[in-house]
Amino acid sequence: MDQTNTLKMPMLGFGTLIPDAATTITATKYALEAGFRHFDGAERYRNESEVGEALKAGLLTNGITREEIFVTTKLWNTNHRPERVEPAFEASLKRLQLDYLDLYLIHTPFAFQPGEEQDPRDENGNVIYDNEVTLYDTWKAMERLVDLGKCRAIGLSDVNLQQLTEIYESARIKPAVVQVESHPYLPETELLEFCKEKGIIFLAFAPLGHGIRPGLLENPVITAIASRLQKTPAQILLSWAIQRGTALLTTPKTEERARENFNILHLPEDAMEEINSIETRQRYNQVVKTGSPGFIPQGFFNA
Ligand SMILES: NC(=O)c1ccc[n+]([C@@H]2O[C@H](COP(=O)([O-])OP(=O)(O)OC[C@H]3O[C@@H](n4cnc5c(N)ncnc54)[C@H](OP(=O)(O)O)[C@@H]3O)[C@@H](O)[C@H]2O)c1
Repeated sequence: MDQTNTLKMPMLGFGTLIPDAATTITATKYALEAGFRHFDGAERYRNESEVGEALKAGLLTNGITREEIFVTTKLWNTNHRPERVEPAFEASLKRLQLDYLDLYLIHTPFAFQPGEEQDPRDENGNVIYDNEVTLYDTWKAMERLVDLGKCRAIGLSDVNLQQLTEIYESARIKPAVVQVESHPYLPETELLEFCKEKGIIFLAFAPLGHGIRPGLLENPVITAIASRLQKTPAQILLSWAIQRGTALLTTPKTEERARENFNILHLPEDAMEEINSIETRQRYNQVVKTGSPGFIPQGFFNA
C-alpha cells in the first residue's frame, strides 16, 4: 500500500509546542478560528489533553466537523519498543479525545530507555539510550497502526536524508510526511528534493526561526521585502516556505498573530530569489543531535 499519493494535508499548520496549559487552549482556539486546519501535537509536549479540549469546543462552536481538520501527534523516544507503540498511540488518542489520527510521527530517530520518565538520565546527567530497538523495528509497529485503521498516515521527524532513505527503502508503508526544522537559514534542499521525488510531504517546523531574536524576523533581506510588499516579516517567511513546496507549522499565540500567520501571499520571483540567496546558516533546535528537544536560548545567535 502506498499512502503517499493519497494523503491530503493542509499546507499551513498550527503547532502546539506551548509550555503553558491555558495558552495552549486559547492559542488552539484562535488558530482554528483564523482558518488553520492542521494541528500538530506530541506526547512530549504534555498538553495533548488541552489541545483535545480546545479542538472539541472549537469544532462545536464553529460548526466544523472532525473530517475537516487534520490532526498529527508523535510517538516519544521512550516508546520506541514495538510493544509500546500501540499503547502510546492509544493514550495520545484518548488525551486528544479523538477516535482516529490523520498522521502519527516517530518524534525523533533516538530510542530512549523505555518507561514513564520522558527524559531518562544516568547519575552523570547523560541521556540513557535504548540499544535494543532499531528505527525500523519501531517503523514496523507504526505500519501496524495504519493496517488497523487507527491512523491514516505515518511519518518521521528530525531525521536526516540517510535515516529517511533507510526507512523509505525497507518500509512496506512508505513515510508520508517528514517533519524537520526548516527556514531560510536551514533550507534542507537535498532532503526537500528527495521528498519531492518520492512524493513525501516535507513539513517544516520553526519557519520563523522559532521567533528567536535576533534572528530571521529581523534579517534585512526579509524586512526589506516585507516593507516593499507591505506585509510583515512573518508573512514573508511563511509564504517563502509554502512557495518552495513545503508544508509548515507555526505557533502564533494571540488572535492577531493567528490571523496574520494564516494570511499569506504569493511572492514575486525576485523576492524568492533574494531569500534563496541568504547565506547565513543556523539550526535553532538541537534535537537532531541527541534526541533531547530544545531550542537555543534567545539572543544566543547574532544574525
Ligand atoms: N519535530 C520536532 O522536533 C519539533 C521541534 C520544534 C517544533 N515542532 C513543531 O513545530 C511547531 C512550530 O515551531 P515553532 O514554534 O518554532 O514555530 P515558529 O512559528 O517558527 O515560532 C513560533 C514563535 O514565533 C513567534 N511568532 C509567531 N508568530 C509571529 C508573528 N506573526 N510575528 C512575530 N513573531 C511571531 C512566537 O513567539 P512569542 O513567544 O512571542 O509568541 C512563537 O513562539 C511547534 O509548535 C511544534 O508543533 C516540532
